Amino acid sequence: MVKKELSGAELASMLKSSIQLKSLDGVEAPELKLSDEDMQWWRDAKLGLFFHWGLYSIVGRGEWAMFNEKIPADEYAKLAERFNPLHWNPERMAQLAREAGMRYSVMVTRHHDGFAMWDSPGSYGRFDSMHAAAKRDFVKEYTDAFRNAGLGVGLYYSPMDWRFPGYFKPLELADNAELMKKQCYAQIEELTTRYGQIDILWYDGGWLAHSGTDADAAWFWDPVKLNGMVRRHQPACVINPRSGWIGDFQCDEGTHAITGNILPIDWEKCFSIGTHWSYDPQELVMPLEEIIKLMMDCFVRGGNVLLNVAPNPDGEIPSSQVERLKQIGAFMRKNGEAIYGTTAGPLEPVDHICGMTRRGNVLYLHVQDMQAFENIGLLPLEQRIARCRLLDGSEIPFEQNEQGIEIRVPKEKWEPLDTVVRLDILE
Ligand code: GLC
Repeated sequence: MVKKELSGAELASMLKSSIQLKSLDGVEAPELKLSDEDMQWWRDAKLGLFFHWGLYSIVGRGEWAMFNEKIPADEYAKLAERFNPLHWNPERMAQLAREAGMRYSVMVTRHHDGFAMWDSPGSYGRFDSMHAAAKRDFVKEYTDAFRNAGLGVGLYYSPMDWRFPGYFKPLELADNAELMKKQCYAQIEELTTRYGQIDILWYDGGWLAHSGTDADAAWFWDPVKLNGMVRRHQPACVINPRSGWIGDFQCDEGTHAITGNILPIDWEKCFSIGTHWSYDPQELVMPLEEIIKLMMDCFVRGGNVLLNVAPNPDGEIPSSQVERLKQIGAFMRKNGEAIYGTTAGPLEPVDHICGMTRRGNVLYLHVQDMQAFENIGLLPLEQRIARCRLLDGSEIPFEQNEQGIEIRVPKEKWEPLDTVVRLDILE
């Protein structure tokens, strides 16, 4: 499927939805954009695993602890002496991601605290996992294990780094800021040359001094140059927008509801199923119903979903999150036919009630609220419906005319999270 080319301004004006795209003002550089062909695997994959794991996991109060609690950089750095995860098992984690129906993954390789989760000569002060108690290269272990398990491999990287005073005063402390930029280029080069094929590069935090947008800071990072280098090393890597360049897809972040029309661009919602993005011992986990609802709200509007979990300092995902992933997997096994490899539509979704996905001559109607759906019916459809069934194969009576379509699913077949009706159409 070919996605439309819309400018940021055009999109912003058509966005009457609650989808909060992050970087529509990003610098345009059409020569960097991936082709439809190279984007296809990502569009088809739909669901990915995100994980935030690093020194902040030891603190246990979110990945922003260093900044929020004003922990001085040299004191924070001592956490590295305690970072020695003995139960980190990326093979098991990749297996779990597969069981959860995920087809790709994104590991936080370096967050805003500056600690690199790999052997990073480019790291300022060698603040990396090879020089921590662990003395290991976690990016290597992750990329090997997840790739072997058949998952798309993605790396999250934060250009900004709180350890540099120049981050907060890029003009007054230009030399120091320049060191941070140098680190960014060196580390992106390491990440894109030492670990085989990287399927996704996921930037976060290109803005400066925590103000403005990523695009506002493009004068500093020069994202077209940065991503030009990435393209030389990784020609087919899918790149998100948050380096200041508009990127290959747009991001929506957090657990707010998704409503409104299908977005005719590539986009992904990421959210954490736990309290923070990173480990918190007081962990609360999102109810399954809420997770699935958000996921379906994205899928029927053309979006992918990147679900975040938070391993503990020892490298293990809390059992409550493991359990959720398994439940999500059960849902995806049951309904995956109507999700993977589909596009959104053709009919627009009705907020909180229903939406549609499509693969060739098969349309899938996803009903989230059967009771409400019974009262609204479906709008007219151009294509003629030949047959109407549930995913278990049972036939569903329907009536199609100029006014619309009436589909009556027997009450005993209603599903609490997503009742999927398969419509075979005649083109
Ligand atoms: C927000 C958070 C950051 C997190 C990111 C994930 O930007 O501030 O900590 O890594 O979301 O998208």
